Amino acid sequence: MDHKEVGRYWNENAAVWTKLARDGYDVYRDGLNTPAFFNMLPDVNGLSGLDVGCGEGYNTRLLAGRGARMIAVDISEKFIKFAKEAEKSEPLGIDYQVASAVELPFPDASFDFVAGFMSFMDIPETECVLSEAFRVLRPGGFLQFSIEHPCFSTPHRRNLRNDKGLTYAIEVGDYFRNLDGEVSEWLFGAAPAELKQTLPKFKAPKFTRTISQWFNLLIETGFLLEQVEEPRPSDEAVRQYPDLQDARVVAYFLHIRARKPFDRSTGK
Ligand SMILES: C[S@@+](CC[C@H](N)C(=O)[O-])C[C@H]1O[C@@H](n2cnc3c(N)ncnc32)[C@H](O)[C@@H]1O
Repeated sequence: MDHKEVGRYWNENAAVWTKLARDGYDVYRDGLNTPAFFNMLPDVNGLSGLDVGCGEGYNTRLLAGRGARMIAVDISEKFIKFAKEAEKSEPLGIDYQVASAVELPFPDASFDFVAGFMSFMDIPETECVLSEAFRVLRPGGFLQFSIEHPCFSTPHRRNLRNDKGLTYAIEVGDYFRNLDGEVSEWLFGAAPAELKQTLPKFKAPKFTRTISQWFNLLIETGFLLEQVEEPRPSDEAVRQYPDLQDARVVAYFLHIRARKPFDRSTGK
């Protein structure tokens, strides 16, 4: 399966995803991933940024809110349509475009930073995604992205729950087998059951890499690793979003920032 075929799956997911996320049911994003990503993010005020795999644009709007001049791409036309509608009703100066992370339609060294919120692990051509991000960054610019944690989002995975229904462990296995497009079907767990019964499930092709594959690919691409985080929900976040309880048992997500070095010979 290549990125174009994956894109067709995401295009089919876009309408339900946008509705549920905008209704507040993407609680891992709202209660954990996005706050952690922005906690780790350097000051982007006045910088030019690219959001890769922006979906309906929620996190792009937050980046623009921090003063960044944003372009955002997604392979799904429908996601970009929803993002553009939001831009039209509340303009933030964001330029949304349909494009694939694998072949970015921008010249070399166009951006001060590249962001990827939970999108890089959905694209089979991982090497190209990283090399394209590297190419469009100016020397000294940074890439920051979040993915499902490679060690705990394995081909075999099962939540083990106590008699109160609370997760106390995650069973993982088959870690070294790279999933290559097996389609998982699901909806945001926090959405009400009655609603979930009426909606088609997301169909998302899965691609897994081990943690050493991710780090080595970044290093081979030329990036310098700068910061790594494994977000853990606070007590307050779990009170607000009880579904986050299971993400306190192991790290569900991995956030990485890496920098494109200056050329040592020219200093540029
Ligand atoms: C899990 S969603 C995350 C969306 C958004 N970043 C967020 O945090 O809400 C993954 C996104 O990656 C996009 N995507 C998948 N393959 C892509 C590709 N090759 N190029 C650009 N975007 C892609 C999907 O269309 C989808 O919007």
